[in-house]
Amino acid sequence: MDNQTQIRNFCIISHIDHGKSTLADRFLELCNVVEERKMQSQYLDMMDLERERGITIKLQPCRMNYDFEGKNYILNLIDTPGHVDFGYEVPRSLAAVEGAILLVDASKGIQAQTLANLNLAKEQNLVIVPVVNKIDLPHAQTEQAIKDLAKLLEIQEDEIIKISAKLGTNIEQVLQAVIKKVPLPKGDLEKPLRALIFDSKYDSYKGVIAYVRIIDGKISKEQKFYLIKSDRQSEVKEVGYFKPEFFEQKELIAGEIGYVATGIKEIEKVRVGDTITNNKLLVINKSVQSLYGYEEPKPMIFASIYPENPDDYDILKQGLEKLKLSDASLSFDMEAKMALGRGFRCGFLGMLHTEIVIERLRREFNLKLIVSTPTVIYRIIDKRGKVFSTHSASDWLDSSQIQEIQEPWIKLEIIIPNSYLGSAMKLFETLNGKYIETKYLGSNSMVLVYEAALREIIVNFYDKLKRATEGYGSMNYEILEYRKGDLVKVDILVSGEKQEALSQILSNDSALKDSSKLIKKLKDVFPPQQFSVPLQAAIEGKIIARENVKARRKDVLAHIYGGDYSRKRKLLERQKKGKKELKEKAKTKIPAEVYLKIFT
Ligand code: GTP
Repeated sequence: MDNQTQIRNFCIISHIDHGKSTLADRFLELCNVVEERKMQSQYLDMMDLERERGITIKLQPCRMNYDFEGKNYILNLIDTPGHVDFGYEVPRSLAAVEGAILLVDASKGIQAQTLANLNLAKEQNLVIVPVVNKIDLPHAQTEQAIKDLAKLLEIQEDEIIKISAKLGTNIEQVLQAVIKKVPLPKGDLEKPLRALIFDSKYDSYKGVIAYVRIIDGKISKEQKFYLIKSDRQSEVKEVGYFKPEFFEQKELIAGEIGYVATGIKEIEKVRVGDTITNNKLLVINKSVQSLYGYEEPKPMIFASIYPENPDDYDILKQGLEKLKLSDASLSFDMEAKMALGRGFRCGFLGMLHTEIVIERLRREFNLKLIVSTPTVIYRIIDKRGKVFSTHSASDWLDSSQIQEIQEPWIKLEIIIPNSYLGSAMKLFETLNGKYIETKYLGSNSMVLVYEAALREIIVNFYDKLKRATEGYGSMNYEILEYRKGDLVKVDILVSGEKQEALSQILSNDSALKDSSKLIKKLKDVFPPQQFSVPLQAAIEGKIIARENVKARRKDVLAHIYGGDYSRKRKLLERQKKGKKELKEKAKTKIPAEVYLKIFT
């Protein structure tokens, strides 16, 4: 390596929307990474959907060169996602770097993900470069944000850099602070290769491309390598770094961040958190050990996805397979429901993840979809002590067979300005949760800590919080453990027939209220029928709520003016008889649009 060249590996952590991508754009401009004509806002957010929604879904590393005090520095930046659902990606990128810019929006102050990500960074012993952004905003409370941040980090206020990523104010100061504060990567070029995989991407020509941080040794094209965890050997097709597009190099050496095209065709064989080394022998004789291991991202939320048009099943299947190539956290299994045909039961990390996958299927594959209400994974212990897990009401046991039901609980941390305490408390009352504590963050905001069942927050809770706090509230959660739940399965019957796709797992306390609401909604969205259709909610055969879809009566008398009553009666009777026969012949077919409306 050239003596003059120094490497700094760092990332930006913040709450969602505090300006990471905008700051990254300014870095790219300053370091002339992207030609000006190609520059568009939020360059590192590569997917159209990300750019449109203003959220980072996939982290995209980038290498930049910057001259400072007569030396040329290589700055490897990793952009990390800020939303709670994608939190699992943050520890991965943190393990690949030595420092983190902690970015706080001056108009919002410290928010839930600021704290959560800061804690993760501290666990990795990263050097923190504190920055307050958006100081140009008229309602920015820069001094307050600086005070709170200094207190949180236990540092002097003048250590915090004030910037406007939008206007480009003080951006160089940030890069210079990264160079001064973030340590050089340690690592030994002479040792056997150890590279940490922190992300991966599928390429149909080069196989899975692993995004790596080289810890020790080096790697080059055509070299044989071994993946420790997945116990797989292969040969390197190409190595290089990110500009942010792939930029081929002869080799990658200790301390660098780049990519390795593995030639391996199965994405699940190149696992995030795995370690690349030279060969298996080194592992057997213990010369090389696996690096810091990551946990596999686990799906927490499940929902069924069906094509509105059953003929589109194959397109949906291809769509999910394609998305899975770039999103290892997405899981799916085929399922079939009488009313809906064939579809998939899909596992997601959280609500935003669900929303994004569905939106991508709709857009990129031009699909019209029916998506069920999301559920969590329940644990059922039967009378014989056998434990099994399910996320579907259709696998539910009869209560006589159940000893105990358990469901995942979370620790919920909500940060709000002090003035929204009342509305936040009201919102909490709707959860059957447990208040833990309140912590004060500076003089203006507070952290409320609650424990609640995950089931209660996956549907709309985040939106409700935003509404209750006029957009100021933010939340973060972590899974605690499974706890005993008082839950029942509520069946929905249409014309007396059970509709599995509509059945629900509800809390015993609110089952009556919630199922009455569902039945009413079902009635409202049901199209008019030839004959009246009873809609019922039942727990183990006992009806707890009922509505009727009224029959649409065709006016068979419309063409008869005045007169003959017996003729009228004859016509009406014939109509009644016809309907009865029809009712006996045909079951009520629930149109796809009913599911569509009931689930949204
Ligand atoms: P995620 O990747 O989704 O976590 O968001 P982010 O942190 O990357 O935020 P992003 O850069 O997308 O910025 C969010 C919004 O804030 C955008 O509308 C930006 O234009 C705006 N923004 C970012 N920096 C500044 C700033 O310094 N001043 C002002 N006024 N707006 C800014």
